[in-house]
Amino acid sequence: MNVFNSLCVFLLFYGVVVDGKFRNDYKFYEAAGGWFKLHEVPASWNNAWYKCFREGAVLASPENENLFSTMKTLVAEHTKSCGVYTGIHATFSKGDYYSIEGTPLSKIPVFWAPDEPDNFQNGEDCIVMLLNGTVADVQCTDVYPFLCFKKKTKNMFTSGCGTVDTGYTFDPRTGSCYKFHRLPQTWHRAFAACSGEGGHLAIINSDLEAQVIKELYGKNPDSTMPGNFVKHSSHIGHCDWGERGLWLTIHGQTLKEAGYDKWSNGEPANSTQASTGQYCGAVHRPGTLNDVWCNMPTPFICEKAPDSLVDDE
Ligand SMILES: *[C@@H]1O[C@H](CO)[C@@H](O)[C@H](O)[C@H]1NC(C)=O
Ligand SMILES: *[C@@H]1O[C@H](CO)[C@@H](O)[C@H](O)[C@H]1NC(C)=O
Repeated sequence: MNVFNSLCVFLLFYGVVVDGKFRNDYKFYEAAGGWFKLHEVPASWNNAWYKCFREGAVLASPENENLFSTMKTLVAEHTKSCGVYTGIHATFSKGDYYSIEGTPLSKIPVFWAPDEPDNFQNGEDCIVMLLNGTVADVQCTDVYPFLCFKKKTKNMFTSGCGTVDTGYTFDPRTGSCYKFHRLPQTWHRAFAACSGEGGHLAIINSDLEAQVIKELYGKNPDSTMPGNFVKHSSHIGHCDWGERGLWLTIHGQTLKEAGYDKWSNGEPANSTQASTGQYCGAVHRPGTLNDVWCNMPTPFICEKAPDSLVDDE
């Protein structure tokens, strides 16, 4: 390794303390003391919660007057919908409303819309903020746009991977960052996780990258993943796009075009043991490709470009 490389690795490893930056898809609001992002595509409350979480933020709640007024302005200015989800919910215990951060409803400045809350048909456990800032309870499966919020704290640290998520590690051999998720998820949930983190399910573009993935997998032996689930296969970024037997990366390339098409012996096997075929992509411990049931929770590997969440000024 030459001097230049060591310096790069040093900087990438230690990162930088960035003042006033979180992610380039979030905007800072001084009065609120943090960053907001409006997700315009409506989602169920659970999916909204999950997306904010994966972005390193929380589904926003009007926890105090400053947050309330910023949220009210954003909702009124930016959404075409009749309201947005807040993080206020009673999904743990009916009627016991809290923000995601655990603040009870009684301490949150909310103004109910007329005849709300009504817990209509005993089925409403989530709270939306309407365009005029009043709130109403709705079914958590209903879909609304939503706001994610990241509170500014002292010395926020953005790593050389361009994220506050310390799970990502830069590999100088490929120029990409990788994160191994030990908590098993379905392939689609894994896709959402990587996407929220500013990356994508890992795509192997060369023998060298297969080696990088193999080494990363090796750092996560079965013993570090307690629980009864498949550990010798991890979801990555190829699938059949609904065309049985066809394998493309999630970026639309054939495996050959992507630069790596080495399957494990006997794979893809499209095992029908679980009554459905195997239409999603994975990698085995030796770095060779596998096909798996999309709904089977397994560990998964995300890949992220170091600049994907960093300002492109
Ligand atoms: C706010 O909007 C709701 C729903 O459109 C409406 O019923 C309510 O009267 C409005 N409240 C105020 C204070 O404008
Ligand atoms: C895989 O198995 C499923 C379920 O039996 C079947 O519908 C599908 O056609 C098979 N695909 C291939 C490529 O053999």
